[in-house]
Amino acid sequence: MLKEVTATRYIAPLREGGSLPGLVEADDLGTYVLKFTGAGQGRKTLVAEVVCGELARRLGFRVPRLVTVEVDPVLGLGEPDQQVQELLKASGGTNLGMEFLSGALGYDPLAFEVGPEEAGRIVWFDALVNNVDRSWRNPNLLRWQGEVWLVDHGATMIWHHNWPGARTSAARPYDATDHALSRFAPDVGSAAAALAPLVTEELLAEVTARVPDVWLLDEPGFATPDELRRAYARPLIERAATIHERIRTEGDR
Ligand SMILES: Nc1ncnc2c1ncn2[C@@H]1O[C@H](COP(=O)(O)OP(=O)(O)OP(=O)(O)O)[C@@H](O)[C@H]1O
Ligand SMILES: [Mg+2]
Repeated sequence: MLKEVTATRYIAPLREGGSLPGLVEADDLGTYVLKFTGAGQGRKTLVAEVVCGELARRLGFRVPRLVTVEVDPVLGLGEPDQQVQELLKASGGTNLGMEFLSGALGYDPLAFEVGPEEAGRIVWFDALVNNVDRSWRNPNLLRWQGEVWLVDHGATMIWHHNWPGARTSAARPYDATDHALSRFAPDVGSAAAALAPLVTEELLAEVTARVPDVWLLDEPGFATPDELRRAYARPLIERAATIHERIRTEGDR
């Protein structure tokens, strides 16, 4: 399980985010970027954040620490912004929090170069989880303390929206032509050689165990949250072996 905290104060909306994530203070005195369970994108976005964020961390990427944030809808009562008020009201219970990296800058590929090795690792990881949200328009990468950090893994693993077709969907190639780092000659071959062997059943069991049960209940076709956890693991294990051979890059255009 992830560390559990309780929101004590809503600070402000993070206006850039499509899902209107908010900044909150919690009872451990930490400040978190809150992704609401009641946001339009639904709870699968939060499952994807945990599976991909925790997997990335274990593969050696820098990812802000994830927690679950208990929200009392009463927090919304004093909010002047109607949209924020609605979100808080719809999000009672367990939400996702990401440690706020104070002073982080949005990553700009024109201003900060990364080498082929690091670019390769990130592009390979995004191919593994089928991340469609790391384009040069919206990199979802941050620069903090001189390093590149990965955020926003909500738009990944498209196959979890249609489990009966998951196998076919996960067998498809990954299109990296728009990827924020495709201009840096990503060495995905070396990344695959180093990272794919780490993507094991044991590692994924550890990763998926961190997803709260409440986000895994009542999925059609699955009797228990653990059954669904295994369904999350399978396509990733299969994809890890060969996805580097199926990445479309700028050169293929
Ligand atoms: N942990 C963090 N620390 C500091 N800033 C963050 C953090 N997480 C996100 N941000 C900032 O907030 C923005 C919105 O967050 P995020 O991308 O996760 O939300 P989103 O609603 O899924 O966004 P979108 O769908 O528009 O990409 C990020 O682009 C980034 O600038
Ligand atoms: Mg984003």
